[in-house]
Amino acid sequence: MHKRLKTKFLGVEIKSPLVLPAGIMDMSFSGLKVCNENGAGIVTSKSLTLEPRSGHKGPVVAEFEGGFLNAMGLCNPGIADGLAEIKEFKEYSATPVIVSVFATNTDDFLKLSEYVNNSKADFLELNLSCPNVYDEFGIPLASSKNKVFEIVKAVKTKSKLPIIAKLSPNVLSITDIAVSAENAGADALCMINTVGPGMLIDTKMVKPVLFNKFGGLSGPCIKPVALKLIYQTYSTVKIPIIGMGGVTSGNDAIEMVMAGASAIGVGTAVYYRGIEVFDKINKEIIDFLDENDYTSLENVPKLEKL
Ligand SMILES: Cc1cc2nc3c(=O)[nH]c(=O)nc-3n(C[C@H](O)[C@H](O)[C@H](O)COP(=O)(O)O)c2cc1C
Repeated sequence: MHKRLKTKFLGVEIKSPLVLPAGIMDMSFSGLKVCNENGAGIVTSKSLTLEPRSGHKGPVVAEFEGGFLNAMGLCNPGIADGLAEIKEFKEYSATPVIVSVFATNTDDFLKLSEYVNNSKADFLELNLSCPNVYDEFGIPLASSKNKVFEIVKAVKTKSKLPIIAKLSPNVLSITDIAVSAENAGADALCMINTVGPGMLIDTKMVKPVLFNKFGGLSGPCIKPVALKLIYQTYSTVKIPIIGMGGVTSGNDAIEMVMAGASAIGVGTAVYYRGIEVFDKINKEIIDFLDENDYTSLENVPKLEKL
């Protein structure tokens, strides 16, 4: 790994600013290991729930020309089995791990937080923003600044791990939500989760492509939305942001940095460019630094705040 990409996130050294976002790989030790070996600086678990979930019936993912639509339905092995995979990962590597958790109320978030605090995780991410479980759980918690405040505050009070709040793009005022999370004690923000939900139609079968009908959009088509929301948020809060949404190339990663991101998630691009995408983007970032005479990523200027 190139020394110039080494940086820190919330005081923890990372070999690259690239982050594997939640849910992109399966929740196994080997899934996280292969991302680490291919250049990710931080890896994130799938969002774990208290009990295992089988998720939605397939098809759960569909590709279209601008990106992907997914309605996984939060399939995961449950917090206990998920953390066993994290333990195995941490025994093999010092690469920082974010454990993402999902719940629908403060009590369950607190229970999940206790599990994660007793694990080898480096950071705890609160998924407040899953867009494809409407039928079961209703509108994501990240749509309400009061709910965001209540949950982040409760978890922060009990957690010794840094807290990352994962925000939804599907809100009227991203800055209201981000400020709520910051005021409640979030150490960082992760944004954006998938956009929508949206829908694709199989015209031969005259039915939606996804079994769940609706799903969240990811990949290149959401990058402009992500950049705008990250930039607005960076202009408003002081805590660091893991920026993600359609990052597929080194130039996309640089755009995220200029918009205000401190670390950059690379998710759907794994499906386009293979697991080597982390190393490829690391190299493209270095090429950008060389071509533009920046000694490190920290020297790349951010946009003037709004
Ligand atoms: C198949 C799939 C599963 C996902 N699962 C989760 C998840 O479990 N928890 C979560 O917070 N985000 C989840 N996401 C959202 C991603 O972490 C990320 O925020 C989003 O895809 C935008 O980044 P990208 O365009 O680089 O993929 C998922 C995305 C995809 C495509």
